[in-house]
Amino acid sequence: MSNELNAVARELVAKGKGILAADESTGTIAKRFDTIAVPSSAENRRAYRDLLFTTSEVENHISGVILYDETIRQSSADGTPFPELLASRGIHPGIKVDTGAKALSGTDDEKVTEGLDGLRDRIMEYRELGARFAKWRAVITIGNDIPSRYCLEANAHALARYASLCVEGGLVPIVEPEVLMDGSHTIERCFEVTSRTLHQVFGALYEQRVPLEQILLKPNMVISGSDCAVPASKEQVAEMTVQCFRRHVPAAVPGIVFLSGGQSDIEATVHLNEINKLGNLPWNVSFSYGRALQASTLQAWLGKADNVPAAQDAFRHRSMCNGKATFGEYTSEVEQQAGV
Ligand code: 13P
Repeated sequence: MSNELNAVARELVAKGKGILAADESTGTIAKRFDTIAVPSSAENRRAYRDLLFTTSEVENHISGVILYDETIRQSSADGTPFPELLASRGIHPGIKVDTGAKALSGTDDEKVTEGLDGLRDRIMEYRELGARFAKWRAVITIGNDIPSRYCLEANAHALARYASLCVEGGLVPIVEPEVLMDGSHTIERCFEVTSRTLHQVFGALYEQRVPLEQILLKPNMVISGSDCAVPASKEQVAEMTVQCFRRHVPAAVPGIVFLSGGQSDIEATVHLNEINKLGNLPWNVSFSYGRALQASTLQAWLGKADNVPAAQDAFRHRSMCNGKATFGEYTSEVEQQAGV
Protein backbone atom coordinates (compact mmCIF):
# COMPACT_ATOMS: atom_id res chain seq x y z
CA MET A 1 0.00 0.00 0.00
CA SER A 2 2.71 2.46 0.94
CA ASN A 3 4.44 2.24 -2.45
CA GLU A 4 1.11 2.65 -4.16
CA LEU A 5 0.28 5.84 -2.25
CA ASN A 6 3.71 7.33 -2.87
CA ALA A 7 3.33 6.52 -6.60
CA VAL A 8 -0.13 8.16 -6.75
CA ALA A 9 1.16 11.21 -4.87
CA ARG A 10 4.04 11.57 -7.33
CA GLU A 11 1.75 11.12 -10.34
CA LEU A 12 -0.50 13.89 -9.00
CA VAL A 13 2.43 16.33 -9.02
CA ALA A 14 4.13 15.08 -12.22
CA LYS A 15 5.84 18.01 -13.98
CA GLY A 16 3.47 19.90 -16.24
CA LYS A 17 0.39 18.71 -14.36
CA GLY A 18 -1.79 19.70 -11.44
CA ILE A 19 -5.18 19.15 -9.86
CA LEU A 20 -8.65 20.51 -10.64
CA ALA A 21 -10.66 21.15 -7.46
CA ALA A 22 -14.25 20.47 -8.57
CA ASP A 23 -15.44 19.51 -5.09
CA GLU A 24 -17.63 22.52 -4.36
CA SER A 25 -20.29 21.55 -1.82
CA THR A 26 -23.92 21.95 -2.89
CA GLY A 27 -23.99 25.35 -1.14
CA THR A 28 -20.77 26.59 -2.73
CA ILE A 29 -21.62 25.52 -6.30
CA ALA A 30 -24.98 27.29 -5.90
CA LYS A 31 -23.03 30.51 -5.16
CA ARG A 32 -20.87 29.97 -8.28
CA PHE A 33 -23.98 29.28 -10.42
CA ASP A 34 -25.65 32.43 -8.99
CA THR A 35 -22.92 34.53 -10.62
CA ILE A 36 -24.07 33.25 -14.05
CA ALA A 37 -27.80 33.06 -13.13
CA VAL A 38 -27.98 29.26 -13.49
CA PRO A 39 -30.27 27.36 -11.08
CA SER A 40 -28.35 24.83 -8.98
CA SER A 41 -30.32 21.66 -9.83
CA ALA A 42 -28.69 18.20 -9.59
CA GLU A 43 -28.86 17.96 -13.40
CA ASN A 44 -27.20 21.36 -13.94
CA ARG A 45 -24.45 20.41 -11.50
CA ARG A 46 -23.98 17.10 -13.35
CA ALA A 47 -23.96 18.76 -16.78
CA TYR A 48 -21.38 21.32 -15.64
CA ARG A 49 -19.04 18.68 -14.20
CA ASP A 50 -19.56 16.59 -17.36
CA LEU A 51 -18.39 19.57 -19.43
CA LEU A 52 -15.21 19.82 -17.35
CA PHE A 53 -14.43 16.09 -17.26
CA THR A 54 -14.95 15.51 -21.01
CA THR A 55 -12.78 18.43 -22.16
CA SER A 56 -10.34 16.97 -24.67
CA GLU A 57 -6.59 17.07 -24.02
CA VAL A 58 -6.81 18.25 -20.41
CA GLU A 59 -5.20 15.00 -19.29
CA ASN A 60 -1.96 16.61 -20.54
CA HIS A 61 -2.16 19.14 -17.71
CA ILE A 62 -4.63 17.72 -15.18
CA SER A 63 -3.44 14.75 -13.10
CA GLY A 64 -6.36 14.54 -10.69
CA VAL A 65 -9.82 15.94 -10.01
CA ILE A 66 -11.29 16.42 -6.53
CA LEU A 67 -14.97 15.44 -6.47
CA TYR A 68 -17.79 16.07 -4.00
CA ASP A 69 -19.89 13.26 -2.49
CA GLU A 70 -22.75 13.93 -4.95
CA THR A 71 -20.42 14.14 -7.96
CA ILE A 72 -18.52 10.90 -7.35
CA ARG A 73 -21.88 9.10 -7.65
CA GLN A 74 -22.92 10.90 -10.89
CA SER A 75 -22.27 9.88 -14.50
CA SER A 76 -21.39 11.37 -17.86
CA ALA A 77 -24.15 11.82 -20.49
CA ASP A 78 -23.33 8.37 -21.95
CA GLY A 79 -23.82 6.70 -18.55
CA THR A 80 -20.12 6.28 -17.63
CA PRO A 81 -19.66 6.99 -13.90
CA PHE A 82 -17.45 10.08 -13.44
CA PRO A 83 -14.67 8.24 -11.54
CA GLU A 84 -14.47 5.65 -14.34
CA LEU A 85 -14.44 8.36 -17.02
CA LEU A 86 -11.59 10.22 -15.30
CA ALA A 87 -9.55 7.05 -14.66
CA SER A 88 -9.93 6.01 -18.32
CA ARG A 89 -8.26 9.31 -19.25
CA GLY A 90 -5.36 8.75 -16.83
CA ILE A 91 -6.75 11.30 -14.35
CA HIS A 92 -6.94 10.22 -10.69
CA PRO A 93 -10.36 10.73 -9.07
CA GLY A 94 -10.20 12.33 -5.61
CA ILE A 95 -12.81 13.10 -2.97
CA LYS A 96 -13.45 15.85 -0.42
CA VAL A 97 -14.08 14.03 2.85
CA ASP A 98 -14.43 16.83 5.40
CA THR A 99 -17.91 18.04 6.25
CA GLY A 100 -17.03 21.72 6.43
CA ALA A 101 -15.54 24.37 8.72
CA LYS A 102 -17.78 25.04 11.76
CA ALA A 103 -17.64 27.49 14.68
CA LEU A 104 -14.90 26.51 17.14
CA SER A 105 -16.48 26.52 20.61
CA GLY A 106 -14.80 28.85 23.09
CA THR A 107 -13.70 31.33 20.40
CA ASP A 108 -15.37 34.38 18.90
CA ASP A 109 -15.04 33.79 15.22
CA GLU A 110 -12.62 30.95 14.63
CA LYS A 111 -13.38 27.70 12.85
CA VAL A 112 -12.57 24.01 13.11
CA THR A 113 -13.20 21.50 10.33
CA GLU A 114 -15.51 18.57 11.08
CA GLY A 115 -15.91 15.13 9.52
CA LEU A 116 -13.89 12.61 11.54
CA ASP A 117 -16.89 10.59 12.80
CA GLY A 118 -17.41 7.57 10.54
CA LEU A 119 -14.50 8.63 8.32
CA ARG A 120 -12.86 5.19 8.24
CA ASP A 121 -16.03 3.68 6.69
CA ARG A 122 -16.51 6.55 4.25
CA ILE A 123 -12.91 6.19 3.05
CA MET A 124 -13.57 2.50 2.33
CA GLU A 125 -16.70 3.38 0.36
CA TYR A 126 -14.96 6.13 -1.62
CA ARG A 127 -12.13 3.79 -2.54
CA GLU A 128 -14.69 1.29 -3.83
CA LEU A 129 -16.22 4.10 -5.89
CA GLY A 130 -12.81 4.70 -7.49
CA ALA A 131 -11.23 7.49 -5.42
CA ARG A 132 -7.44 7.35 -5.09
CA PHE A 133 -6.86 10.50 -3.06
CA ALA A 134 -8.76 12.74 -0.64
CA LYS A 135 -8.92 16.31 0.62
CA TRP A 136 -9.61 17.92 4.00
CA ARG A 137 -9.59 21.72 4.27
CA ALA A 138 -8.88 23.60 7.50
CA VAL A 139 -9.67 27.33 7.52
CA ILE A 140 -7.50 29.82 9.39
CA THR A 141 -8.60 33.47 9.59
CA ILE A 142 -6.19 36.37 10.14
CA GLY A 143 -7.52 39.09 12.48
CA ASN A 144 -6.23 41.37 15.21
CA ASP A 145 -5.77 38.66 17.84
CA ILE A 146 -6.30 35.58 15.73
CA PRO A 147 -5.52 32.86 14.88
CA SER A 148 -5.27 31.58 18.44
CA ARG A 149 -2.91 28.73 19.26
CA TYR A 150 -6.01 26.77 20.28
CA CYS A 151 -7.50 27.12 16.77
CA LEU A 152 -4.24 26.09 15.09
CA GLU A 153 -3.85 23.05 17.35
CA ALA A 154 -7.45 21.89 16.94
CA ASN A 155 -7.25 22.12 13.15
CA ALA A 156 -3.81 20.51 12.96
CA HIS A 157 -4.97 17.63 15.14
CA ALA A 158 -8.01 16.98 12.91
CA LEU A 159 -5.92 17.22 9.72
CA ALA A 160 -3.48 14.63 11.07
CA ARG A 161 -6.29 12.29 12.23
CA TYR A 162 -7.79 12.52 8.74
CA ALA A 163 -4.43 11.94 7.05
CA SER A 164 -3.68 8.88 9.17
CA LEU A 165 -7.08 7.33 8.37
CA CYS A 166 -6.59 7.98 4.64
CA VAL A 167 -3.20 6.28 4.59
CA GLU A 168 -4.67 3.29 6.45
CA GLY A 169 -7.57 3.09 3.98
CA GLY A 170 -5.54 3.54 0.80
CA LEU A 171 -6.17 7.16 -0.21
CA VAL A 172 -3.43 9.79 -0.59
CA PRO A 173 -4.41 12.55 1.84
CA ILE A 174 -4.19 16.10 0.59
CA VAL A 175 -3.57 18.10 3.75
CA GLU A 176 -5.05 21.57 3.26
CA PRO A 177 -4.49 24.22 5.91
CA GLU A 178 -5.78 27.42 4.27
CA VAL A 179 -4.82 30.77 5.75
CA LEU A 180 -7.47 33.02 4.23
CA MET A 181 -6.59 36.06 2.11
CA ASP A 182 -9.55 38.00 3.58
CA GLY A 183 -8.45 41.22 5.29
CA SER A 184 -6.10 44.17 4.97
CA HIS A 185 -3.05 42.42 6.47
CA THR A 186 0.42 42.64 4.95
CA ILE A 187 2.36 39.81 3.32
CA GLU A 188 4.63 39.76 6.42
CA ARG A 189 1.62 38.99 8.62
CA CYS A 190 0.56 36.22 6.22
CA PHE A 191 4.11 34.82 6.41
CA GLU A 192 3.97 34.76 10.22
CA VAL A 193 0.55 33.08 10.39
CA THR A 194 1.34 30.56 7.62
CA SER A 195 4.57 29.75 9.45
CA ARG A 196 2.74 29.10 12.76
CA THR A 197 0.10 27.05 10.94
CA LEU A 198 2.59 24.81 9.12
CA HIS A 199 4.59 24.32 12.32
CA GLN A 200 1.48 22.97 14.10
CA VAL A 201 0.40 20.85 11.12
CA PHE A 202 3.74 19.09 10.64
CA GLY A 203 4.06 18.59 14.41
CA ALA A 204 0.66 16.86 14.48
CA LEU A 205 1.46 14.76 11.40
CA TYR A 206 4.64 13.58 13.13
CA GLU A 207 2.89 12.81 16.43
CA GLN A 208 0.21 10.85 14.62
CA ARG A 209 2.77 8.83 12.63
CA VAL A 210 1.70 9.96 9.16
CA PRO A 211 4.26 8.90 6.51
CA LEU A 212 5.06 12.16 4.75
CA GLU A 213 6.03 10.35 1.53
CA GLN A 214 2.36 9.45 1.10
CA ILE A 215 0.74 12.86 1.43
CA LEU A 216 0.50 16.11 -0.52
CA LEU A 217 0.29 19.57 1.06
CA LYS A 218 -2.28 22.05 -0.27
CA PRO A 219 -1.55 25.43 1.27
CA ASN A 220 -2.19 29.11 0.59
CA MET A 221 0.62 31.10 -0.96
CA VAL A 222 2.26 33.71 1.26
CA ILE A 223 0.48 36.78 -0.08
CA SER A 224 -0.91 40.11 1.12
CA GLY A 225 -4.54 40.31 2.25
CA SER A 226 -7.13 41.04 -0.44
CA ASP A 227 -7.69 44.55 1.03
CA CYS A 228 -4.03 45.31 1.77
CA ALA A 229 -3.18 48.95 0.98
CA VAL A 230 0.12 48.07 -0.70
CA PRO A 231 -0.06 44.59 -2.24
CA ALA A 232 3.19 42.64 -2.53
CA SER A 233 4.82 42.15 -5.93
CA LYS A 234 4.79 38.77 -7.68
CA GLU A 235 8.53 38.39 -6.97
CA GLN A 236 7.94 39.03 -3.26
CA VAL A 237 5.09 36.50 -3.17
CA ALA A 238 7.35 33.87 -4.75
CA GLU A 239 10.36 34.56 -2.51
CA MET A 240 8.44 34.71 0.77
CA THR A 241 6.33 31.66 -0.12
CA VAL A 242 9.41 29.56 -0.84
CA GLN A 243 11.22 30.84 2.26
CA CYS A 244 8.25 29.94 4.46
CA PHE A 245 7.78 26.46 3.00
CA ARG A 246 11.50 25.66 3.07
CA ARG A 247 11.42 26.29 6.81
CA HIS A 248 8.47 24.04 7.56
CA VAL A 249 7.85 21.38 4.91
CA PRO A 250 10.16 18.34 5.01
CA ALA A 251 11.66 17.24 1.69
CA ALA A 252 9.98 13.84 2.18
CA VAL A 253 6.67 15.43 1.08
CA PRO A 254 6.44 14.68 -2.68
CA GLY A 255 4.57 17.81 -3.62
CA ILE A 256 2.97 21.11 -2.71
CA VAL A 257 -0.19 21.97 -4.65
CA PHE A 258 -1.35 25.50 -4.01
CA LEU A 259 -4.97 26.61 -3.73
CA SER A 260 -5.97 29.83 -5.48
CA GLY A 261 -7.94 31.21 -2.52
CA GLY A 262 -9.54 34.20 -4.24
CA GLN A 263 -6.66 35.24 -6.52
CA SER A 264 -7.77 35.95 -10.09
CA ASP A 265 -7.05 33.19 -12.57
CA ILE A 266 -4.14 35.09 -14.12
CA GLU A 267 -2.64 36.06 -10.73
CA ALA A 268 -2.75 32.44 -9.59
CA THR A 269 -0.88 31.34 -12.74
CA VAL A 270 1.67 34.18 -12.53
CA HIS A 271 2.46 33.44 -8.88
CA LEU A 272 2.86 29.70 -9.45
CA ASN A 273 5.14 30.50 -12.38
CA GLU A 274 7.31 32.88 -10.30
CA ILE A 275 7.66 30.24 -7.58
CA ASN A 276 8.81 27.61 -10.07
CA LYS A 277 11.16 30.09 -11.77
CA LEU A 278 13.13 30.22 -8.50
CA GLY A 279 14.03 26.56 -9.12
CA ASN A 280 15.93 24.08 -6.92
CA LEU A 281 12.91 23.30 -4.78
CA PRO A 282 12.89 20.11 -2.68
CA TRP A 283 9.30 19.25 -3.66
CA ASN A 284 7.36 19.40 -6.94
CA VAL A 285 5.28 22.58 -6.79
CA SER A 286 2.01 22.67 -8.66
CA PHE A 287 -1.64 23.74 -8.45
CA SER A 288 -4.92 22.43 -7.05
CA TYR A 289 -7.13 25.30 -8.15
CA GLY A 290 -10.88 25.63 -7.94
CA ARG A 291 -11.92 29.17 -8.80
CA ALA A 292 -8.75 30.05 -10.76
CA LEU A 293 -9.30 27.11 -13.13
CA GLN A 294 -13.06 27.50 -13.47
CA ALA A 295 -13.94 31.23 -13.51
CA SER A 296 -13.44 31.69 -17.27
CA THR A 297 -15.15 28.35 -18.00
CA LEU A 298 -18.27 29.32 -16.03
CA GLN A 299 -18.43 32.71 -17.77
CA ALA A 300 -18.18 31.06 -21.19
CA TRP A 301 -20.77 28.38 -20.35
CA LEU A 302 -23.63 30.41 -18.79
CA GLY A 303 -25.63 27.19 -18.47
CA LYS A 304 -26.22 26.86 -22.24
CA ALA A 305 -25.50 23.65 -24.17
CA ASP A 306 -24.48 25.69 -27.23
CA ASN A 307 -21.67 27.27 -25.20
CA VAL A 308 -20.08 23.97 -24.11
CA PRO A 309 -17.31 24.02 -26.78
CA ALA A 310 -16.29 27.61 -25.84
CA ALA A 311 -16.39 26.72 -22.13
CA GLN A 312 -14.20 23.66 -22.76
CA ASP A 313 -11.75 25.85 -24.73
CA ALA A 314 -11.50 28.14 -21.70
CA PHE A 315 -10.87 25.23 -19.32
CA ARG A 316 -8.28 23.65 -21.66
CA HIS A 317 -6.50 27.00 -21.96
CA ARG A 318 -6.27 27.66 -18.20
CA SER A 319 -5.10 24.09 -17.60
CA MET A 320 -2.39 24.54 -20.22
CA CYS A 321 -1.26 27.90 -18.76
CA ASN A 322 -0.98 26.43 -15.26
CA GLY A 323 0.80 23.38 -16.67
CA LYS A 324 3.40 25.74 -18.17
CA ALA A 325 3.67 27.52 -14.80
CA THR A 326 4.79 24.26 -13.16
CA PHE A 327 7.93 24.56 -15.33
CA GLY A 328 8.25 28.33 -14.80
CA GLU A 329 7.59 28.66 -18.55
CA TYR A 330 4.37 30.70 -18.51
CA THR A 331 4.56 34.02 -20.41
CA SER A 332 2.12 36.60 -21.77
CA GLU A 333 2.60 34.95 -25.20
CA VAL A 334 1.42 31.63 -23.73
CA GLU A 335 -1.60 33.47 -22.26
CA GLN A 336 -2.46 34.95 -25.68
CA GLN A 337 -2.51 31.54 -27.44
CA ALA A 338 -6.19 31.09 -28.19
CA GLY A 339 -7.86 27.70 -28.15
CA VAL A 340 -4.81 25.81 -26.90
P1 13P B 1 -9.68 27.67 -4.73
O1 13P B 1 -8.56 27.42 -5.70
O2 13P B 1 -10.89 28.29 -5.37
O3 13P B 1 -9.23 28.34 -3.48
O4 13P B 1 -10.23 26.23 -4.32
C1 13P B 1 -9.34 25.24 -4.00
C2 13P B 1 -9.94 24.39 -2.97
O5 13P B 1 -10.09 23.21 -3.16
C3 13P B 1 -10.33 25.00 -1.69
O6 13P B 1 -10.57 24.00 -0.75
